[in-house]
Amino acid sequence: MTDVFYRAPANPYPTIDHGEGVYLFDKDGHRYLDGASGALVANLGHGRREIAQAMAAQAERVAFAHTMRFTSEAQEELARRIAALLPFGLRHTYPVSGGSEATETAVKLARQYFLETGEPKRFKVLTRWASYHGNSLGALSASGHIGRRRPYEPLLSPAFVHFAPPGPACPGPGPDGECSCTRALRAAIEQAGPDTVAAILMEPVGGSANSGLVPHPGYMQAVGRIARAYGILLIADEVMTGFGRTGLTLGMEHFEVAPDMITAAKGLSGGYAPLGAVVTADRVYEAIRSGSGRFAHGFTYGGHPVACAAGAKALEILERERLIENAAAMGELLRAGLEDLLPRHEVMREVRGLGLMQAVVLETDQRPGARAARLSDIAFDAGLIVYAGSGGPEGLLGDHVLLAPPLIVRAEEVSELLDRFDRALSALH
Ligand SMILES: Cc1ncc(COP(=O)(O)O)c(C=O)c1O
Repeated sequence: MTDVFYRAPANPYPTIDHGEGVYLFDKDGHRYLDGASGALVANLGHGRREIAQAMAAQAERVAFAHTMRFTSEAQEELARRIAALLPFGLRHTYPVSGGSEATETAVKLARQYFLETGEPKRFKVLTRWASYHGNSLGALSASGHIGRRRPYEPLLSPAFVHFAPPGPACPGPGPDGECSCTRALRAAIEQAGPDTVAAILMEPVGGSANSGLVPHPGYMQAVGRIARAYGILLIADEVMTGFGRTGLTLGMEHFEVAPDMITAAKGLSGGYAPLGAVVTADRVYEAIRSGSGRFAHGFTYGGHPVACAAGAKALEILERERLIENAAAMGELLRAGLEDLLPRHEVMREVRGLGLMQAVVLETDQRPGARAARLSDIAFDAGLIVYAGSGGPEGLLGDHVLLAPPLIVRAEEVSELLDRFDRALSALH
């Protein structure tokens, strides 16, 4: 009997001891290749003393000072590094403590933007089915992950309007640059009432739901055009894709579509501290600064100096070690290796994704999530961590696993990952 309220109290949990590079070690001496960076978090690998030291140095000087009264050098440096690194003129960082908080913040910021700019009727947020934006009630309302929504449906907000994700059967854009998928977005806007819509929120590449889904060419560009035409803010959820995961700094760079804001977390600090952020373009920031002068929002731990120190150091390492380039190169190796496995395992339906965010879509099983969970358990017992997901265009159905090792991964470690995954697939048959 333990005092911990575990995620799944019936499950056994090995006790983690330490991590080094792409490996984790438990107290019983088992070694795990972290093929999912936890949940696409540990982008810089495990056991980075430099980050631990930066956090300790910050905590020794001062661990907490409320952001209502103070800024800190760590917060300033984090924001400076983010502004220098990000494309699309995204440069105003509002730090929070994770992805769900980032979603809540971005949605409220979009709402306040329209209050400041004289369009008070705009509050609705359009998001896609088979998406995931977090588990707090606002973020879950935004999410189109049916399995995670279902128990809490009565608590979810109707201000979030869902539309269909891009489907694999779509032939792509016609001469007008639009396809059935983007027409579904237009229809959703028209039905919601265009002058009531504040934001469109979407993941550049599918994460927990619809894993690895990369929209077909022209899709995101059409979404960007539609958002502009209707005067709606575009928010990219870069919580999984951001800061190098897909082989470019942001997932949206693959489509060359500039969002008005992004949400980030996970890889931003590489998991060394609970850290997330909303980063906005000038026009959103300026609307608040030159309007009421105050964003009516805030979390106690937002801008926590120790978390910001971890994030600033993580970004320094990301650039110094050219990890985004490594993610692109190792992503190609991983993708090629997974495609080689396709003809050998009937249970594999498709490989998709970008950079070091590659998903294996499994043949549909009638029990949603069961096959992916079993594969993940088999792999875990054999020392490989993968990230199991479920839910896709078919609703609850659609099993997939994400393979997303830390961005520091080397070619021989990619080979080891593929080898272990191959064996886990064989054991699944
Ligand atoms: C795309 C995306 N957005 C938001 C979140 C929520 O982040 P957190 O779990 O840090 O609250 C997640 C978590 O998996 C995510 O994948």
